[in-house]
Formats: sequence, structure tokens, C-alpha cells
Amino acid sequence: MKKNSLLKKILKTPLPKNNMRNKIVAGNWKMNLGIQQGADLIKNIIEAKPQLNPHQKVIFCTPFTHLNSSSEVLKSAPSGYLLGAQNCHDQPSGAYTGEISVDMLTELQVSAVIIGHSERRQYFGESNEFLKNKVDSLVSKGKMILFCCGEPLSIRESDKQNEYVARQLQESLFHLSAEAMMNHIVIAYEPIWAIGTGVTASTQQAQDMHAFIRSLLKETYHEDVSKEISILYGGSCNATNAAELFACPDVDGGLIGGAALKAESFLPIISAMP
Ligand code: PGA
Repeated sequence: MKKNSLLKKILKTPLPKNNMRNKIVAGNWKMNLGIQQGADLIKNIIEAKPQLNPHQKVIFCTPFTHLNSSSEVLKSAPSGYLLGAQNCHDQPSGAYTGEISVDMLTELQVSAVIIGHSERRQYFGESNEFLKNKVDSLVSKGKMILFCCGEPLSIRESDKQNEYVARQLQESLFHLSAEAMMNHIVIAYEPIWAIGTGVTASTQQAQDMHAFIRSLLKETYHEDVSKEISILYGGSCNATNAAELFACPDVDGGLIGGAALKAESFLPIISAMP
């Protein structure tokens, strides 16, 4: 990064909002559950009343077709329970058959959107550059972005995971100002070899990558930025291993796939939130 633009970013850096970054557990339902099943799942979770402190958030990232009913159910939820989507388009409207704009999500009270999930990168060819446009569109509309990064097994086996993840962040996120980073970005580290496989990253592997991402934020922006941004772990996180993973100093919660589809497995993960 050029010296001038780095200086600009630092000068624009406001003091941290608080000394405690948000702790987040987000459920990524992917293409699962019927509309009624989804509404019942959220109802069961909020009726179990897991206590959240003001720094804790639970986000339900449902399929598009479930957003309307899910937002109705969430009207009776205590604060801290938010609605999320799994994707969006970067353009505000137009001839993009099958796509959903950020404004459309806003009409359904969506607060957060997952961007850059490895399944979107792999099956839908979403590049770092393409994701950057989605990031800009979401920042301009005031949304929280759950930005996913993570390496495939071949990269991990050749010990190149840090360079790989750094590039994903540099090419899609690091054009943002420090303020935009702190106000809108949550990073989810999801090693692809751990997603849906039952193989979880070890606590050491998770902590090492999270600490690396935080050092990158410090180096690119400022220490305040690195301290303020929540970094979640995702990949076969479940009721049994969540507490151990969340106890790592740089792990601020999780992005949960399979274990978010049932109240019995999602509730203990919410309770394990740091
Ligand atoms: P998993 O999925 O928890 O089922 O591994 C995580 C994710 O893909 O976000």
C-alpha cells in the first residue's frame, strides 16, 4: 500500500467504539430447511432465552425465501438476535435474472450478509475482485458483512495458507477505509478442508490463523482496527468443540453450518460464545 493512502486511513481512524469487540455466533443454513421449519427453529432458540450481553450477537443467515417469515419471528426476539442473508448482488437493480439486491434485503430487515463463502467461490466462480464490488455495495447501505476466507487442503498441505488468506483479504477488503472496516466487517476464517467434513481445525491452527489475520489488520491499518474487528471460525464447529475453539484469544465466535440447523446443537454453541 502506498504511504499516502496508509496515512489517510490512519488519520481517518476513529477511536475504538469500545474496548470489547463483538462476539458473534452466526448460523449459515445454506440451502436447507423448509420455511416453517426455519421459523420454528428461530422460535425454539429465542424461546430458550440464551442470555446475550450487549457485545454478543446471534445471526440467522437463512435462504432468501425464508427471510420474510424469519424477520417476523425475530420481531419478538430480544436485542442481539439478527437476520442475515447468504449472498447479494452488487448492483442496486436491473436486468440480473435470479439475483437479489441489498435494498431488497433491507426491506426484509436483513442486517448482515455472508460474502465470499467458499461454496460461492467454488460453484459460482466468485473471484476476489467480484466480491469487492459486493463489499462496496453492502458498506454503502450500512450492512454488516460476514466476509469468508480460507484455504483449500492443497494450500494447507504446502503451508501457504497465510499468503492465500492474505490475498483474499487484500483483494476484496483492504481498499476500505479503517472506519468502514471497523463499522462493517466481520471476518470468518473457514478452512475449506474443515467445512462440512467433520474435520475441525485444531485450536492451534485456528488461533494461529486468527492471530495472523489480526496482525495483517494492524499492519495494513492500525492496532485499533485489529483490536476492533471480530474474527469468527467456521468449519465443523459444533456443540462439542465450540467452547474450546472460542476460548482462543483471537477467536470471537463462529460461523456454523450443519450444527446451526437444529436448536439442540445450535443452543450450546450460542452458550459457548466468548
Ligand atoms: P459446517 O459449515 O459448520 O457445516 O462445516 C460451515 C460453513 O460452511 O459456514
